Amino acid sequence: MRCSTRALSDNFNTLTSKGRLPYGKRPFLLPDKRILIRILPMAEKRNLKKVFDQHVELEDFFTGFSVKSDKPAQPAGSQNDDNDIIAQLNQIAKEVDACRKCELGNLRTHSVPGEGNPHADIVFVGEGPGADEDAQGRPFVGRAGQLLDRVIAAMGLKRSDVYICNIIKCRPPENRDPRPEEIISCLPFLKRQLQLIHPKIIVALGAHAAKTLLETNKPIGQLRGKFQDFYFDDFSPPIKLMPTFHTAYLLRNYSHENRMRVWEDMKSVLAELGLEVPKK
Ligand code: URA
Repeated sequence: MRCSTRALSDNFNTLTSKGRLPYGKRPFLLPDKRILIRILPMAEKRNLKKVFDQHVELEDFFTGFSVKSDKPAQPAGSQNDDNDIIAQLNQIAKEVDACRKCELGNLRTHSVPGEGNPHADIVFVGEGPGADEDAQGRPFVGRAGQLLDRVIAAMGLKRSDVYICNIIKCRPPENRDPRPEEIISCLPFLKRQLQLIHPKIIVALGAHAAKTLLETNKPIGQLRGKFQDFYFDDFSPPIKLMPTFHTAYLLRNYSHENRMRVWEDMKSVLAELGLEVPKK
C-alpha cells in the first residue's frame, strides 16, 4: 500500500479528533514512529522513513532564525481605533456564524472567521477550514497551520503580529474544494475584514485564495513570486498581494525547491515592508 504524507496525517487527524490523543498533547506534525506504525500497520517502512525525513527537514527549514525582541513587529493603533476595529471584526464573526447562504453553514461544527492583529501589515488568506479548524473555530491550527506558524516565525514575526483568515469560513465536507457559489457567498465577509484591517500586504496562500482575490484563472505556479494588485472595488487604491504556495501544498509536495520558492516569496514580502530578513 502506498502511504502518502496526506494519508498519514488524515489518519492521524481522525484518531486525534476521536479523542485518542488529546489535542494539547499533539506534537508538531507527525508523532513518534511507533504511533504511526500503530495507526497504519500496512504502511511501507520506506514511505514512513520518507515522511519522517520530511518531518525532520521541515523542523529545520523554517527554524533557527534569530528571534526579535518582544517588541511587537506590527504597529498598534490608538485604543479607540483598536476597539472600533475589533468590534467590527467581532460583528463580522457573528454574521459569519449566523450565515446560512450556502449549505456549509449547516454542515460545519464551528465557523472560522479568522483571527489576529487588527492592525496587521500582513494578512494571510487561505482556502478554507479543515477538520482541525472546524473543531476549534480557529484558522490554520492543523498541520498546514503549524507550518504556517513556522514560516511566520522564520520571517521574524509572531502569529499575533499578522492576521490569518480564509476565503470561505466554513469547512467543506471531506475537505473538498470550495464551490464557486460558496466562494461568492462568503467573499463579502473577507472583503469587509480586509477593508477594516487594511494591511500593507495580503499573502494569498494557494490557488483558491490567489485566483479568487485576483479574479484570474492563471495557475498558482505562474502567479506566485510576483506582487499583484488586489482591488476592493473600482474606487479604492489596490493593496499589494503576494500569491504563494499553500502550506498544505508544501506539505504534500515537499521539495527543497518548493520550500525555497515560498521562502523567496516571504523575503519579497519582508523587503516590501522594509523589514530585515532574519538570519539563521
Ligand atoms: N487550510 C486553509 O486553507 N485554511 C485553514 O484554516 C487551514 C488549512
